[in-house]
Amino acid sequence: MKNITNAKWIKKPTPQVNKEIVFSKNFAVNGEVRRATLEATALGVYEAKLNGQRIGDYILAPGWTSYKNRIQVQTYDVTDMLQNENELSIGVGPGWKGNDYFHSNWASFPYLGGCELAIICALTVEFADGSEMTVYSDKTWTAAEGRNRFSHMYNGYVFDPAYVDDSPEKAVEFEHDLKSLLDQQGEKIIEQERLPVKEIIITPKGETVLDFGQNMTGYVEFKIKGNKGEKVTIKHGEVLDAEGNFYRDNLRDAAAEASFICDGEEHIHKPEYNFFGFRYVKLENWSDEVRKENFTAIVVHSDIKRTGYFECSDARLNQFFSNVIWGQKGNFLDVPTDCPQRDERLGWTGDAQVFAKTASYNYDVEKFFTKWLADVRADQTGWGSIPHVIPNVFHPDDECSAAWADCVTVIPWQMYLTYGNKELLEESLDSMKNYLEYINDHTWDGIWAHGHHFGDWLNLDGSNPQDCSNGTDKDLIAQAFAVYSLRILIKSLEVCGKDAEEYKTCLDGRIKAFRDKYMTFGRIKSEYATQTACALATYFDISDNIKEVARQLNDLVRECGHLKTGFVGTPYLLHALSDNGHIKTAYDLILREEYPSWLFSVKMGATTVWEHWDSVREDGTMWSTSMNSFNHYAYGCSADWLYGDAAGIKVDEENPAFRHIIFAPLTDERLTYVKASIESRFGTVASYWKTENGKTEYEFTVPAGCTATVILNGKKTEIGEGVHKF
Ligand code: BGC
Repeated sequence: MKNITNAKWIKKPTPQVNKEIVFSKNFAVNGEVRRATLEATALGVYEAKLNGQRIGDYILAPGWTSYKNRIQVQTYDVTDMLQNENELSIGVGPGWKGNDYFHSNWASFPYLGGCELAIICALTVEFADGSEMTVYSDKTWTAAEGRNRFSHMYNGYVFDPAYVDDSPEKAVEFEHDLKSLLDQQGEKIIEQERLPVKEIIITPKGETVLDFGQNMTGYVEFKIKGNKGEKVTIKHGEVLDAEGNFYRDNLRDAAAEASFICDGEEHIHKPEYNFFGFRYVKLENWSDEVRKENFTAIVVHSDIKRTGYFECSDARLNQFFSNVIWGQKGNFLDVPTDCPQRDERLGWTGDAQVFAKTASYNYDVEKFFTKWLADVRADQTGWGSIPHVIPNVFHPDDECSAAWADCVTVIPWQMYLTYGNKELLEESLDSMKNYLEYINDHTWDGIWAHGHHFGDWLNLDGSNPQDCSNGTDKDLIAQAFAVYSLRILIKSLEVCGKDAEEYKTCLDGRIKAFRDKYMTFGRIKSEYATQTACALATYFDISDNIKEVARQLNDLVRECGHLKTGFVGTPYLLHALSDNGHIKTAYDLILREEYPSWLFSVKMGATTVWEHWDSVREDGTMWSTSMNSFNHYAYGCSADWLYGDAAGIKVDEENPAFRHIIFAPLTDERLTYVKASIESRFGTVASYWKTENGKTEYEFTVPAGCTATVILNGKKTEIGEGVHKF
């Protein structure tokens, strides 16, 4: 940031709820210009224009942060756009800030004046002679209502191209903390892909529906003429119902509508302050002929770079992997969200925690998570608890849920493992310690007990399927995560060269308390024995007999023939099995296509990962209307097993970032080949195996300067850079 902190925050004197405000200023430039730079940000989301031309390609700037603590500033080079006489205008819609009111039924947290929209900016012109001039936002600016006559992140927008505010006002300055301003820290959000209409469908109800063939996040660009005064509407939905009609009950209270008021002229239109989660759109009141070429879906997400690929001989598994990738595209929109479509789209910490490893293989998410973790730290409470969603739009109290709050330890550690990022680990130490302090404050008889936990969310062990969090004992889960997070803190302290002794003593106590209360002879006591409980005790290395508890897990899976885990157990289920020799069971689970399984949704035609194992049932009916997202990446976490076990590419904790790789692929006769690659900080890491006539051949790629250990049939071989065949 250079000059923006000398500017004034400005707003419209009469605030408008759920509308667009356009701030503008005319200014002249005389002299030879060397460079011109705009620094801008907003309370709300903004698009800036110079002389009618859009500045930059950032969608939904300034992104979403813990606004009361941190607001990102974007810097744009506008040298080539400058003229002698200029008009700088910045339109602002409510964006994520408008959702504060939406969540008031959960808890009122209308920070920053709720829906009030504002901007702050500085446009600095540097002249060839070394002199400078700066145009600051201040009370000389004009504030008018914009053409988005209605704008709301969940509900959508109404755009009237003919609207002109005939009574614009002078903007007013107001005081707002300038210390919260910071340079753009995360990846910017941009338009990424354009998808054509696959099919125009007339449903049994007679609705006109466009199918883009892929569930996604973004918006529709359309060509429209219509009749003057006519209001056309696009409604967004993810699936069709059992009869083939347009369906959007699962969006709950999010209207997700894009409306356009025709003026009789031809327009090519797309939204400015909105995004939607959809595969299908329903057209309403469309008097123009509906032609495929008049509609394009634009996929929008954070500008993360793709790094991970997986392919095998089973087309269903490849489709699952594709669904995981699309789940990440759809939910990595500045903040890792639970889902992109319904009236949530929130940074649910648990979802991010379970998916972070897979996310970091699929894409380079180091910068993305560095920014989000700064918001986690900013919103961490004084008690040390981590709010359920970051940025926190709920009431800040001391509630904290195991597996959700553990994002504060798990994700920095994962960034260290995948990218070798020690600085982030170091920066995170205090927040990790404070969280563990919070757990200690809520511990009785050595166990983190009680409190508000989401449990093994959406598991299939509970007696009441409508209660998403019953099933595995919640205190058992909490205690297991206390162990897991303590271990991560100890390892992090050691990596950062700091003393971890007091935490080691604490860890011993926690493990002992877990074993005393929940285990007997290395196994989970029968009254607590669920797949998730066994998976945690195995993967978190809590049992004093890991093989035994893994065997117990294997038996539980074999007895019922399928998985029963929810958000908490699923990430570890396959690993806990295959790490302990139950490779066939792990493959049985990942290759199963009957409900419940990862491939069930694939069989049912999913193009993204579902929230529930049975979001749509075999007969086409829905699990529920209230909470049924078709684009929830949580269960996509298991793609890490495809990279790490099916293909066998593993990080070595002692030498992370794939500087030293462990290749330990697990074959299965149902697959004839598997190949995967990860673009690491040092170059491409790849694994490939194929089986022909009962003989398996392997090929491993090690980047320059890196080494690897290959483990095949229990035999270890050390290799250096290059391509190696076995
Ligand atoms: C979200 C989840 C989240 C959960 C908390 C849901 O409404 O969509 O993904 O983690 O609440 O249990």
